[in-house]
Amino acid sequence: METKVDEIAEKIYRLSTLVPGTAGPSGLTFNQFLIDADEPLLFHCGQRFLFPSISSAVGKLIPIERLRWITFSHVESDECGSMNEWLAAAPNATAAHGHLGCNIWLKDTAIREPRALSDGEVLDLGGKKVRRLDTPHLPHCWDAGLIYEETTGTLFCSDMFTQAGDGPALAVGDIVGPAIEIERRLAFTPITPKTAPMARKLAALSPRTLAVMHGSSFAGDVSSVLEALAGFYDEVLRAG
Ligand SMILES: [Fe+2]
Ligand SMILES: [Fe+2]
Repeated sequence: METKVDEIAEKIYRLSTLVPGTAGPSGLTFNQFLIDADEPLLFHCGQRFLFPSISSAVGKLIPIERLRWITFSHVESDECGSMNEWLAAAPNATAAHGHLGCNIWLKDTAIREPRALSDGEVLDLGGKKVRRLDTPHLPHCWDAGLIYEETTGTLFCSDMFTQAGDGPALAVGDIVGPAIEIERRLAFTPITPKTAPMARKLAALSPRTLAVMHGSSFAGDVSSVLEALAGFYDEVLRAG
């Protein structure tokens, strides 16, 4: 397994590993993001089997012991399967998640006390500022949330905009069409009357970069692609 490293916004690095045979013949990338700041933050841990490859890629950017925060969108193996491996490798790191996720899972599982974040709470990383946004059931799971890095306008959107295959770090073409295609095929988002309004609330942030967990990230008019995805959610809901 090779984990590729690309800077997708200033001092925000995408760590990407293609896992063949997942989600179709072209495979699926599993992407983590390192925000390099005075207090470096890792968003998504990856599954345990990817830990050697991802941690060695992070080690080329910063000494792993410098990691201060480990966070993720929701409880699934690709988002946080290797959380305790990271906590063991980085003794100064704290796992941070929403209050609900801490209560239903993290306080019981993490090898050290986690930090519970409120909706809208900002972690000042020193050079970067990360805001926690509660998005229950978007992309999926009750505890789901996203983070927004305010100095670069980067929205870490987890499984939203999932695309199959090993595309470039930053998309060069349309990401909405491929994202809708895989959502129709796998139906991984539980679409409710609250889903499109949540996506539109994210669009209102006017992000400049979208850090995507599976597939290419995107730089440009992020509000428009979020509005387009919200339109798709509306359409699915109307179709019943
Ligand atoms: Fe997920
Ligand atoms: Fe995921």
